[in-house]
Amino acid sequence: MKQVICIGSAAKDIFFPTSEMRIIDNPGDPEVKKLMAFEYGAKYQIDDRYEAPGGCAANSAQGLARLGIDAACYCRVGSDPEGDWVIDNLRQEKVETEFIQWDGKYRTDLSFILVNPQTGDRTIFFNRDANEKLEIKDDLEAEWLFVSALNGDWKGNMDKILTAKKSSNMKLAVNPGQANLKEDKAKVIEFIENAEMLLLNKDEAIEITGGKTEEPKELLRELLKLGPKIIAMTDGENGNHATDGEEIFRASATKEKPVDLTGAGDAFGAAFLAAILKDKDLSEALRWGTANGGSVVNYYGAKEGLLTEEKITKKARIVELERI
Ligand SMILES: Nc1ncnc2c1ncn2[C@@H]1O[C@H](COP(=O)(O)OP(=O)(O)OP(=O)(O)O)[C@@H](O)[C@H]1O
Ligand SMILES: [Mg+2]
Repeated sequence: MKQVICIGSAAKDIFFPTSEMRIIDNPGDPEVKKLMAFEYGAKYQIDDRYEAPGGCAANSAQGLARLGIDAACYCRVGSDPEGDWVIDNLRQEKVETEFIQWDGKYRTDLSFILVNPQTGDRTIFFNRDANEKLEIKDDLEAEWLFVSALNGDWKGNMDKILTAKKSSNMKLAVNPGQANLKEDKAKVIEFIENAEMLLLNKDEAIEITGGKTEEPKELLRELLKLGPKIIAMTDGENGNHATDGEEIFRASATKEKPVDLTGAGDAFGAAFLAAILKDKDLSEALRWGTANGGSVVNYYGAKEGLLTEEKITKKARIVELERI
C-alpha cells in the first residue's frame, strides 16, 4: 500500500523569463491590482526557456518522493508526447504512476508561464484539457490521500473520495483549489470537514473563514472549528503558521533570491506532510515546509528546487521559528 496518493492535475509547464514586461498599477479595479504589459504587435526575443512538469498532484508527489515517501500521482494525461514527457519525469523521481489515466481524446494540460526574473512574479496561461476528464475510480488505497485543486466534475470526485475514505482507514490532507473555492465554497468546506490535515495560504484561509479576521492566530482558530487536526497556513515571504489545536508556531520565510514562485505552495505542503509521516513534531514539520518552499523559488518550475531529506534537515536548521 502506498503511503500517499496525490490527487489533482499534472501538466507540462513552459517558462519564458523576460524583463521586457511593464508592470502597471491598475487602481480602478480591486480584483486586478497590477497588469503585465507588452508593446502591441511587437516581437520579443526570449534568451532562454525552461520546461518542467507541473500541476498540483505532480508537484506534491515529486516533493514527497524526493523526501523518500512512497508517493503516487493520481491525474489524467493525453496520449501525446507531453503525456509521455510528464510520466517520464515522474518516474525519474520515483513517483508511482500506476494510477495515472491516459486520455485518448483530450491532450495533456499545458501551461505557458511568463516570468519576471527580477521578482519571480509570473503570469500563467494554462490550457486544462485531459485533467478536466479525471475520474475517481474505486482504486484508492493508501495511508493518506493528498487532494489539491480538482477539475472537471470536481464535486462528484470529492464525493467519491469521501466515500472511499469513509469505507477505509485512509487519512485525508487537503490543499483547497482557488477555482473550486470560487465556484462552490460550501462544497470545499464540506470536504475540509472530513480532512485530518489542511494546508492552505492566507488568502484561502481568509476566504474560507468568510473574511471575519486576517489575524493568523484567529484564522487558525476559526479553521480548527471545521475539523482538521493539523493546519498549516502559508503567506509567501511573510512566513508561515501551523497548529495541532494545542500549540501554534510561526516560522519566518527563508531569505531567497526568487526567480520563479511556481510550486512554492506545493513544495511547502509536500515537505510538511512528509515530516508528519516521518513522525517529526509540528515545529519540525513547519521548518521542513518553510525550507522546501523557500528552496523551490530559486529555480524555474516546481521541481528543480525540491529538497532531499539530507538537504531539508540542514536547511530546516536556519528557519527562524517561535511558539506563539
Ligand atoms: N519570495 C519568497 N521568499 C522566500 N520563501 C518563499 C517565497 N515565496 C514563497 N516562499 C515559501 O514558500 C511557501 C509557500 O508559498 P506561498 O504562501 O506563496 O504558497 P501558495 O500561495 O500556496 O503558492 P502556490 O500555490 O501558487 O504555489 C511560503 O510560505 C514560503 O515559506
Ligand atoms: Mg497554493
